[in-house]
Parts: sequence; structure tokens; C-alpha cells
Amino acid sequence: MKCIADIKALRELLKQWRMAGESIAFVPTMGNLHAGHLQLVNKAKVQADRVVVSVFVNPTQFGVGEDFSLYPRTERADQEKLQAAGVDVVFMPSVEEVYPVNELTKVSVSQVSENHCGAARPGHFDGVATVVCKLFNIVQPDKAFFGEKDFQQLTVINAMVADLNLPVDIVSVPTVRESDGLAMSSRNGYLTAEQREQAAQLYLSLCVAAALIQDKKLAYIDIEKQQIKFLAEQGFRPDYFSICRRYDLKTAEQGDMEIVILVAAKIGKTRLIDNLQLDIEN
Ligand code: PAJ
Repeated sequence: MKCIADIKALRELLKQWRMAGESIAFVPTMGNLHAGHLQLVNKAKVQADRVVVSVFVNPTQFGVGEDFSLYPRTERADQEKLQAAGVDVVFMPSVEEVYPVNELTKVSVSQVSENHCGAARPGHFDGVATVVCKLFNIVQPDKAFFGEKDFQQLTVINAMVADLNLPVDIVSVPTVRESDGLAMSSRNGYLTAEQREQAAQLYLSLCVAAALIQDKKLAYIDIEKQQIKFLAEQGFRPDYFSICRRYDLKTAEQGDMEIVILVAAKIGKTRLIDNLQLDIEN
């Protein structure tokens, strides 16, 4: 496995593969890799000849007072995991390599960026869309792999790719969970042992809400309020619990068939997100 930090060297290598007719899969990450990330890599491996993984903690998607400086950086362990997973090249650029000048351009996806995490983290999805657009232009992959764990992020990326006619297929990968249901996340490492136990209640709240939705007895707004109350009782500070239409992340109404339930809540200083998709049964 090659480990490359500069764009020019990466482009040279990719050019050779492309000239040999090989297809390229790309998995963008911020490192501190866990089984969720590696699932993306495994899917990428079976769908393309070459797999490129980026490890870059992107400053522009962190807000003031968020965990950019504290975000876990575990480059050596990440490289070992990627090597073992059979990745061809890991791209680990510096901040200066990705943002060499004070840039005047940013990619901003309206509407689907605005609610939920977008409301709680202003500018976050502009930072994500901009860096992913830059990485797509650097790597020029045939396919790029994203986790459903970050459902709103996936929706933003899909909109960007469609609206800007970017020549890449986006492949979404289901959320990988711990045995108690907690979605794997680099931020789980911030939790104390006690908080880690509480954290599993987040997924439970999604499952209970999904069952209540299928039951069709309670209004969606009441299910949301009930689960927010439940999470607060479990020691969370809920940010939102929203029953949404899957295609545009707007508030779902009775009659909408394709649903995603989105949740974000803090335990101590750690903000966790999760979601559950469901199709309404007749
Ligand atoms: P990061 O949080 O490192 O996640 C990288 C990719 O792994 C994302 O597509 C994310 O959805 C996926 N992922 C994380 N946890 C997962 C899990 N438990 N199951 C399945 N997939 C999971 O998301 C980012 O980085 C950044 O915003 C990035 C897209 C790299 C842009 O900077």
C-alpha cells in the first residue's frame, strides 16, 4: 500500500491506473478508523480494481468550539488497518496541501443542508460538500462510498453530485453497529464507561419510534416528543428527533411511505447522531 501526502504524486499514480483501464473506488474519511469505515473499504474493494482511501481531518467542517483540535488522529493505526484491508493507496494530505490559499469558492447545497445537523452546526455541510468536491476532483473516482450512518451528509453529497453533474457513482453502505446497537463512530471513544452504556439508548429510541410509526396510532409529532423525553430521562441532552421523508429530509406526514428517523443528542460533551430508515407497511 502506498501512502501519499501530495496531490501531484497521487495524480501521477492514478493516471497510470486509469491508463491501464483500471476502475477506481474512493472512500473519504477523517481517520480514527473503525469497523464502519472498513465496511466501506470492503464494499469498495469488490466494486473496483483499485481502492483509494483519504484520511483528512477537514477543518472547514468544524465550527467554533467544536472538536477539530481534539479529534482523534491515529495515522499509524489507520495505515495498518488499511494495509490489512488491501487498500491500494491512502491519501493523507496536510491542511496546507488541501487549502493552500485563502479560497474564494465553496460548495453549498441548499435545503437538505439546512435542517437537523445543519441547523445545529452552521456551515458544517458547506465544509463537507466543499472538501468532498475537492477530493473528487483530486481523485476522479468512478465510485465513491459513504455510510448511511451520516444520513444527512449522504443526502447532501447525492444532491451535489446530481446538481453539478459530477461523474461519480455514489454507493451508500448501511450503518455498522456495536452488539448493543450503538452506531460505530470515532466520537464513541470520547465516552466514559458509564456514558458508553447509556449511549445504546439512542438506537433503542429509534427502534421504539419505528414500531410506533408502523402501529399508526400516534401522531408523528407525539412520537418525536415522547422519544425526546425518553432520551432526556436517560441522561442525554437531545438536539433533535425528527421523523422525515427520506428523499428531501423534510418533516414526514401521515401518508409518506419512505421514512428516515434522524436523531442527535449529547451525552456530556459528546454529540452522537444516528438514524433509522423504514418503509411504511400497509
Ligand atoms: P468520517 O466520520 O471519518 O466518516 C467517513 C465515512 O465513514 C462516512 O461516509 C461515514 O458515513 C462512514 N461511517 C462512519 N461510521 C460508520 C458506521 N458506523 N457504519 C457505516 N459507515 C460509517 O464523514 C466524514 O468522515 C467526513 O465528513 C468526510 C465525508 C470524510 C468529509 O470530510
